[in-house]
Amino acid sequence: MSIREQLEQIKKDGLRELENFADAKELDNIRVRYLGKKGELTAILKQMGKLSAEERPIVGQAANEVRQALENAVQKSVERLKEKELAHRLASETVDVTLPGKSEPLGGLHPLSIVQNELIDIFQSMGFDIVDGPEVETDYYCFEALNVPKDHPARDMQDTFYLGDNLLLRTQTSAAQARVMEKRNPPIRIVCPGRVYRADEVDATHSPVFHQMEGLVVDKGITMCDLKGCLEQFAHEIYGPETKVRFRPSFFPFTEPSVEVDVSCSECGGKGCRICKGTGWIEILGAGMVHPNVLRGCGIDPDVYSGFAFGIGLDRLTTTRYRISDIRLLFENDERFLDQFQGK
Ligand code: DAH
Repeated sequence: MSIREQLEQIKKDGLRELENFADAKELDNIRVRYLGKKGELTAILKQMGKLSAEERPIVGQAANEVRQALENAVQKSVERLKEKELAHRLASETVDVTLPGKSEPLGGLHPLSIVQNELIDIFQSMGFDIVDGPEVETDYYCFEALNVPKDHPARDMQDTFYLGDNLLLRTQTSAAQARVMEKRNPPIRIVCPGRVYRADEVDATHSPVFHQMEGLVVDKGITMCDLKGCLEQFAHEIYGPETKVRFRPSFFPFTEPSVEVDVSCSECGGKGCRICKGTGWIEILGAGMVHPNVLRGCGIDPDVYSGFAFGIGLDRLTTTRYRISDIRLLFENDERFLDQFQGK
């Protein structure tokens, strides 16, 4: 076979093989076999020396054409291979957007948080600041600063978890009052929501941990009228404008005079039912005019300033609001119970 015939043969074989290969590895093998340094084409070119001077350029050109043709074919094959791979990947990674999604269970707010947030909104709209106080509190802030000295019989009203001589778990959010009055000058208008603790036996209406929201207003010329107006508005916002509000005389060492506030039962409208234990009224908070001793102890002159304070029981508010029959449900975290408040 002449060199030219050999070149033709290489071209024909090469092109045929480049039409037919299984994968990238085989394609590369073909390329090396025909076009590589030790490939067939190079082997032919090495024989060029045997040719006459006239033949050499002609065969050389023919060889270049063969090389060019094979290189083009390799290039095309590489592209075809890439397209095939891409198509394959697209097909295997296709996402079926019509498949139903995996639904993650959504949590909701705890009923106590729902009520607490609502109260915060109401008081914020009346210009109150929200403050936080520590649950582990000193005897001073929880009692002494509130006009309850060490041996005062009023301590019996609140069975206390002591953590040492001077530390305790706060029994009332009222503990925040003196902390605020020591730091801020009047006018003061704050509410302090949070957990409180008392060594009570657990039953349907008692829990050793429960929740309160303390309120405190101190300014010049604050009177019992302000207290009544503020708490009446609060009761109407939370229970509706038709709700009746009743102020009963009471006693708290840190207020004088002191009151307890009842609202007409929203369940029976005052006729008497299971929720209000037949009385037609539900007690929601204690309140009063801040005792001069308390103001004085915090460096506020009671001849210049006066104030009122209140403590709302959040658990009672929540159980009556949602007709929850047992306070323990609020603390058990039973999902069947909590799920009922989703989206409320
Ligand atoms: N701290 C009282 C309690 O836990 C509630 C209370 C009553 C708070 C009167 C007050 C208040 O601020 O003025 O029973």
